[in-house]
Amino acid sequence: MSHTLSTLAYLVASILFILALKGLSHPSTSRRGNLMGMVGMGIAILATLAVPGMRLGGIGLILSGLLIGGTIGAVIARRIQMTSLPQLVAAFHSLVGLAAVFVAASALYAPQSFGIGVPGDIHAQSLVEMSLGLAIGAITFSGSVIAFAKLDGRMSGAPILFKGQHMLNAALGVLLLLLIAVFVATGGPAWLFWLIALLSFGLGFLLIIPIGGADMPVVVSMLNSYSGWAAAGIGFTIGNLLLIVTGALVGASGAILSYIMCKGMNRSILNVLLGGFGAEAGGAPAGGGAAQPARPVKSGSPEDAAYIMKNAGKVIIVPGYGMAVAQAQQVVREMADLLKKEGATVEYAIHPVAGRMPGHMNVLLAEANVPYDEVHELEEINPEFAEADVAYVIGANDVTNPAAKTDKASPIYGMPILDVDRAKTVFFVKRGMSSGYAGVENELFFRDNTMMLFGDAKKVTQQIVQALQK
Ligand code: TAP
Repeated sequence: MSHTLSTLAYLVASILFILALKGLSHPSTSRRGNLMGMVGMGIAILATLAVPGMRLGGIGLILSGLLIGGTIGAVIARRIQMTSLPQLVAAFHSLVGLAAVFVAASALYAPQSFGIGVPGDIHAQSLVEMSLGLAIGAITFSGSVIAFAKLDGRMSGAPILFKGQHMLNAALGVLLLLLIAVFVATGGPAWLFWLIALLSFGLGFLLIIPIGGADMPVVVSMLNSYSGWAAAGIGFTIGNLLLIVTGALVGASGAILSYIMCKGMNRSILNVLLGGFGAEAGGAPAGGGAAQPARPVKSGSPEDAAYIMKNAGKVIIVPGYGMAVAQAQQVVREMADLLKKEGATVEYAIHPVAGRMPGHMNVLLAEANVPYDEVHELEEINPEFAEADVAYVIGANDVTNPAAKTDKASPIYGMPILDVDRAKTVFFVKRGMSSGYAGVENELFFRDNTMMLFGDAKKVTQQIVQALQK
């Protein structure tokens, strides 16, 4: 393949990646978006295999990597539970970071292959790009490994804090920049390359340990962004247009997503990155909070709930993490269909951080073929709770907790919430009195207009469906 043709193929792949991102921005177009991304990646791989000067050994190596990596990826993708996706994403980011480190190393040891000089005499500009890609890649690697361990429960989600932590991180950051400057000024000695790698691995570890479990999604999205910038940096070093474009797309989209998530939680990105959120809560993951027997609550049976909902004019369903765990989305739609037959209006209220990953609830509802026009974002649905007869809160907790508005000491203070308490009756479907992800008790459980429906989200909803059918 000629150079012009391979550049053209890269350009087509880049356009397909941009269209993929556009498609992924809405559930109705997300399948098409995914397909475009896959076709773009296929073109990119073929164009790389056919790049001028590619040797047979190189093709063999790439194909072996594809076969081994592709098989492992396919097996993991088939087996993974939807609720474990955040940690899988973190694990995959760590590999992107590590790949950036390896590509930087190959550029250092074989610069002639990339036309950036000869060993010991690499162009200064390439050394800058290489060392930045190396540092960001290594930080992404170790940071993502810690994010994975925290999200997967392999280490405590609680922030690990010690005195002078931020000063130490700042000092290491300055030292890293100094080492990069010396690396470039001295022509890129190998020992300094590996020292930069080591320091960056350590910095990635230190940057992520103080961050609490509840902030982890934002951190994963930030690391996603870092991995993109690392790839773009390396793309400049080895002169690969596609790597630059793809890296920039991943870097920018990750940064935008982090911003949107911070806005959803009403937290500043700096506040998240400096860590500490969840310390008060002990960083307990959802469902793991200790049971709090203390005050009495009003609990009812699925039949009670069915009776009230049968007579309701407007029902708003609020899904949360528990619906995902119970895989109750299908039966929730069945319930909604029956209620609609009874003449009720049914809407779904989605909080931007409900569940455990961005768009978690939208994906589940789309899977159950819930019509998109019934699904509403927080700002859109909040005024409607006052007119609703029933708010059916299924496996959601933090996203409805009024402590976010009233308790300045609460770790979720400032996060916008769904105003479910303004509905005439609020049903909370959950297994017990455990707190949500942030480990904060929910005052709404004790309100007069609340009825607790204790049990697994799917089983309770199934029983309501049966009662509605009678
Ligand atoms: P949570 O506040 O975590 O509450 C989920 C509730 O579901 C728990 O209180 C639990 O109570 C219940 N539950 C668990 N399994 C259940 C089952 N099988 N059947 C019925 N109920 C079940 O969830 P949320 O309201 O969706 O809020 C999300 C939280 O996660 C926020 O704090 C958010 O910041 C955080 N977070 C969000 C993301 C993103 S990006 N979405 C990622 C990570 C963390 P029981 O144990 O009593 O059943």
